[in-house]
Amino acid sequence: MLVTPHMAMREELEALADTFGRDRSALIPMLQAIQRKNGYVSDLAMQEAADILGIHPVEVHGVVSFYGFLGTEANGRFVIRMCQTVSCDMAGKDAVARQLENDLGIEFGETTKDGKFTLEWANCLGMCDQGPALLVNDKFYTKVTADQVADILDECRKAFGATALQAEKEWLV
Ligand code: FES
Repeated sequence: MLVTPHMAMREELEALADTFGRDRSALIPMLQAIQRKNGYVSDLAMQEAADILGIHPVEVHGVVSFYGFLGTEANGRFVIRMCQTVSCDMAGKDAVARQLENDLGIEFGETTKDGKFTLEWANCLGMCDQGPALLVNDKFYTKVTADQVADILDECRKAFGATALQAEKEWLV
């Protein structure tokens, strides 16, 4: 039987609902799992999640739009979010941001051609006393200097193979 993208997404979300529940409280964990697996939350995923949980699609869209860790466009495997708020700005975020752009060959708001890295600006990450702060997927880096950027990117590159292989198995985690 031909499995359409619609059917595949429905199946994924039904499995997530079996894990996280079928009420409103399951919404964020479900969306996080979809984001982790696909790199973004599609319109189809939002519609299906709303249907399964019995809430309005506009509400689901509102949640995806509100949280910086969710997005509606395909991102790289590693999304690097650099805090641009005042404390990190004063602590020297510009030098770190320039180094990231130089090393990856992209600007903020872009994804590398190999699909591995996306650079995004973020507002306060809650690490204001330890700026400049970076969030790489779920991992925080604090007091980051331009000199540390190459090591952070290497860490991601080394993790990429393992992450890609495990993605299918671990996307419910
Ligand atoms: S100002 Fe950067 S983490 Fe709060």
